[in-house]
Amino acid sequence: MSSSQSRGRTPFLSAEQATLVRERFGTPCYVYDRALLEAAARQALAFPAPYGFTLRYAMKANPSRGILTLFRDLGLHIDASSDWEVERALAAGFTPGQIQLTSQMPSRRLAEHVARGVVVNACSLLQLDAFGRAAPGSTVAVRMNPGLGSGSTKRTNTGGPSSSFGIWHERLDEVKAIADRHRLTIRTLHSHIGSGTDPEVWKGATRMTLDLVSRIADVATVNLGGGFKVGRMPEEPSVDIAEVGAHVRDQIEAFRQRDGRALRVEIEPGTYLVAQAGAVVATCVDVVDTGRDGYLFAKLDAGMTEVTRPSLYGAQHPIDVLATEREAAEVVFVGPCCESGDILTPGPGDPEALAPRWVPRPQPGDLVVIGGAGAYCASMSTINYNSYPQSPEVMLETDGALRPLRRRQSLDQILANEV
Ligand SMILES: Cc1ncc(COP(=O)(O)O)c(C=O)c1O
Repeated sequence: MSSSQSRGRTPFLSAEQATLVRERFGTPCYVYDRALLEAAARQALAFPAPYGFTLRYAMKANPSRGILTLFRDLGLHIDASSDWEVERALAAGFTPGQIQLTSQMPSRRLAEHVARGVVVNACSLLQLDAFGRAAPGSTVAVRMNPGLGSGSTKRTNTGGPSSSFGIWHERLDEVKAIADRHRLTIRTLHSHIGSGTDPEVWKGATRMTLDLVSRIADVATVNLGGGFKVGRMPEEPSVDIAEVGAHVRDQIEAFRQRDGRALRVEIEPGTYLVAQAGAVVATCVDVVDTGRDGYLFAKLDAGMTEVTRPSLYGAQHPIDVLATEREAAEVVFVGPCCESGDILTPGPGDPEALAPRWVPRPQPGDLVVIGGAGAYCASMSTINYNSYPQSPEVMLETDGALRPLRRRQSLDQILANEV
């Protein structure tokens, strides 16, 4: 049996606070930390763009209203990934002009978005043509695939020839022809090449995106997407956003020297803003083993239904067993679903492998905290598999108060739409 020596990273929650969460809200329960959310937003807001800057929150990472309003109050704008997210952003108080729609799915509400002033980011030639027909003579953003991608796994890579996201860079002339046909002004050129991106590849894609900008005269804003890597595990590196920002600043200045345009910069992180500010408080419900040559498993009441990323692409999350004076053991953590893929500790990047962790040997009833769960956990959960209800969400305020953001789903709500 091979094992990781990592014992995770104690997240922002103390054992006392986690106990309180269980008493008040039950487990599993998501908890978000206001101070960490604000700190991440302030760091990103300091991005050193020389000719204007907009920070968009990629709300797909976590669309909870409590988080949206916090970022709205700090002056962030939104990148929405569906018509539905546009509505959630509006409901959270963002103005239409603060919202950009970047969607794989051709919008079914284009005319409405245009009338309200939502920024539409055309992600394919078909989308651009549909936009031109809905709003001839108006301005638009265009998402390009600059020819390069990078993600923490292949499944989070959204650039290069293996990716269906954005318009392939060699098709720029077709983009211009469609825009001309509908008298569209392409004001923003956008690229987003993946999640958990290698910063050096990100910088390369920035250069390639600026090369595309140089070929469209009306572009005034370059949106460089998100993808800033966050190390959830102690051994995983995090991007230095100030260092990346300095590189972008130099490229924007150099672009001005050779082209004359002073470009506004936008970035749209999701992970960077929320990943480390979330945790799931869970309970160990059972402990089983498969003999001397097998594994020791701790079953939690949280799993793929709350934190799907490990079973989806072998993502690593810190896991802390809140127990003292226990001997350590190598433990595989699993969720409660009747699904052998419901694993919380797969091999890094390999959802089919088991990677036990050294932790205090869990017992039923122990509190267990899964860290790094602010991004793509509540929003990506496989809710209602095995009919488990969607878990509640709570904000840990700066004075230590626990403020409920969402209740646990009820059985009636699970059944509500059945006819
Ligand atoms: C268009 C777009 N922008 C921004 C993001 C945010 O990426 P990340 O959470 O890695 O910052 C995504 C995520 O996939 C995306 O698809």
